[in-house]
Amino acid sequence: MSLGLTLPKAELHLHIEGTIEPELVFGLARRNGVELPFATVDDLRRRYVFDDLQSFLDLYYLSMAVLRTAQDFTDLTDAYLAKAREQGVRHAEIFFDPQAHVSRGVPLAEVLTGLTESLRTSRERFGISTRLIACFLRDLGPQEALATWETLQPHLEHIDGIGLDSAEVGHPPQLFEPVFTRAREAGLHVVAHAGEEGPPEYVWQAIDVLGVERVDHGIRSVEDGALLKRLAADRTPLTVCPLSNVRLRCVPELSRHPLPRLLEAGVLVTINSDDPSYFGGYVGENFTALQEALKLDDSVLRQFAADSFRASFLPEAERDALI
Ligand code: HPA
Ligand code: ZN
Repeated sequence: MSLGLTLPKAELHLHIEGTIEPELVFGLARRNGVELPFATVDDLRRRYVFDDLQSFLDLYYLSMAVLRTAQDFTDLTDAYLAKAREQGVRHAEIFFDPQAHVSRGVPLAEVLTGLTESLRTSRERFGISTRLIACFLRDLGPQEALATWETLQPHLEHIDGIGLDSAEVGHPPQLFEPVFTRAREAGLHVVAHAGEEGPPEYVWQAIDVLGVERVDHGIRSVEDGALLKRLAADRTPLTVCPLSNVRLRCVPELSRHPLPRLLEAGVLVTINSDDPSYFGGYVGENFTALQEALKLDDSVLRQFAADSFRASFLPEAERDALI
């Protein structure tokens, strides 16, 4: 097996809803009596061709409608963890989208019961430690984010951090300062998607206004030399998702990915899968595809793996034991 698959690594940018494989979509649709607008598993898989972030999000929200019960979320998470173990993952910081479920009538408690039932025993069953990060859907706006923050309060023992995702352009990070301030004051970790499709200005806002500890994607930072200097000086990690960037046409092809320019600027980069069911590979496959396309030395892959633990929210002693 290739080094990219076997290297012990942390996955820091992974939407659990984006791990749902077409077979599970159909299995859960049958179990829950949900009617799907696709005839077969192959029919669904054929739709995994995207023009941009929004065209992906449309299918992502459509397919997650089969997730209805706590058991569904447990099965989804178990399937991801089993897959992640095969790809060398030893630690996973997992995003979920509370608003995408509550808006469909699935109670937050049901979602969290399901997720935590799986995560609770992940270390024993899969050898993977975990953290859970609740993301706000930026296209629903800052008021909805604040209202969602309130509904998270009884569940904070299960939530390690907050994030910001969904349609980026037109929804700048600075709008979400109030909810991020509250989360920071509550002692939660904070991250945000920025600079995936959106401009470098959104990355500045994520670090300066929201105070994020990591930037999710952040690839458009290469357009702004001062921003690269800042990210490098602060050692602010970027959670880069190479296959996602190509599938969502943020980058024309893997061989032209801006990652080498980020590395040259001294930015701390980690490699992640984002929504692996949709983008053609789990995290190990992101490592191997990237190595092949950019002709990276094994030493660079080892650096990504070590930095994935350094960029994680694990306590230092646990982090060091994994590097
Ligand atoms: N970007 C923004 N929102 C998302 C993504 C992404 O890549 N995946 C799931 N929600
Ligand atoms: Zn993402």
